Amino acid sequence: MARSNFGSKIGIILATAGSAVGLGNIWRFPTMAGENGGAAFIMLYVVFVFMLGIPGMLAEFVIGRRAHTNAPRAYRKFGGKTPFAGVGYAGVLGGMIIFGFYSVIAGWCLAYFFSSVSTGIHGSPDEIVKYFNDFSSDPWQPVFWAAVFMLITHFVIWGGVNKGIERCAKILMPLLFIVLVLIVIASLCVPNAEKGIEFLFMPDFSKINGETCLAALGQAFFTLSLGVACLATYASYYDKSVNLAKSAMQIGLVDTLIAVLAGLMIFPAAFSVGVQPDAGPSLIFITLPNVFQSAFSFVPGASYVIPIMFYGLLVLAALTSTVSMHEIGTAFFTEEFKMSRGKSAAIVTFLCFIVAILSSLSFGVLKEVTIHGMTFMDFFDYITGQLLMPICAFLTCLLVGWYMKKDDVFDELTNGGTVYTRMFHVIYFAIRYICPIGIAIIFLGLIAETVQAG
Ligand code: PHE
Repeated sequence: MARSNFGSKIGIILATAGSAVGLGNIWRFPTMAGENGGAAFIMLYVVFVFMLGIPGMLAEFVIGRRAHTNAPRAYRKFGGKTPFAGVGYAGVLGGMIIFGFYSVIAGWCLAYFFSSVSTGIHGSPDEIVKYFNDFSSDPWQPVFWAAVFMLITHFVIWGGVNKGIERCAKILMPLLFIVLVLIVIASLCVPNAEKGIEFLFMPDFSKINGETCLAALGQAFFTLSLGVACLATYASYYDKSVNLAKSAMQIGLVDTLIAVLAGLMIFPAAFSVGVQPDAGPSLIFITLPNVFQSAFSFVPGASYVIPIMFYGLLVLAALTSTVSMHEIGTAFFTEEFKMSRGKSAAIVTFLCFIVAILSSLSFGVLKEVTIHGMTFMDFFDYITGQLLMPICAFLTCLLVGWYMKKDDVFDELTNGGTVYTRMFHVIYFAIRYICPIGIAIIFLGLIAETVQAG
């Protein structure tokens, strides 16, 4: 069976960038930064993206492209009878859980997009908060929008319209960037904006502890789509001539830039309207409508068009990410169980919808139902973002750095000795030592802290 679903070499790289850039940057990053004290968290996050995330991405790329198959089989191929063989399965599971709860937030964006088109979201800051609370706690509406969003993802995966997505991504990603910059400028002009800047760039190191380190690590991996075998799955479609290290670096840079822009867009506005930075998942939905109606009011039509463009582009950015999450499971079911793509996709969508329902209801009727003190939404986010992703990335680095043959790794990372041959030693060192040791230290630090506290 022909495996490649992607039209061109540049297409698949764009698709990987599309996977990385999504709600992780524009919704989860500000949420986490806000909950974990701002600047100090952000500095850690940037360090983790480049020191631990990029080597981790490369390790996944090596496995995926070399194996040229779905994630569980790829990890089995190189991991043999060791526990490494299980990482691919963990990835399928993790990808599906993320697809479930992520679709809830993407559904909110979709709903906000349609409200922006019809009536717009107006009112005093308190009314905007009430609008969000009423909407998100409703038992039906957000579930409906999550379902719509999941079905769109489903049809993209099923219909194999990845080429269309690639083509859109080429135009829409730069457009998203421009809209973000416009909103950042507007947000910087609101009264009290400097408080937001301070929050983003003046680190208070006393805010750093084991929990914040793990949160920053989890955010770095989540935003790079690292640790759920998503990158391995996409890399299995890569052409042999793709320069892996260069691509990982470019994706890491673009991804970080978008996250920082998202921070600049949200925090000045949040401080201006008196929304606490640790407002949680609702942050972008309650601060931005204020910016849209106040800051753009002097340009005719802008306060109508900008929110439509913003939420619309956000939905598309989310879609290029959910397609990649969905593909991990779909590729697995299709190839391992010899099912049609349609059937595999249907299984994935159905199972993930259950996760989506639980996540969505955890803002309303299931608010009081908690696991270890976390609502369903928080729980799903925590076990994937903060546990599964770092652990799988850790194991992937060990597999590539210590268990696979060095010659094979060299061959993949340098395209048979033709690119980045001198850099190889640095990258190999980072995969062998820096990334796994970095992750281990963070986990050990956290365990030590918990033991001390308890
Ligand atoms: N990286 C994506 C984002 O930032 C989320 C994602 C996680 C995508 C895991 C694929 C796999 O939105």
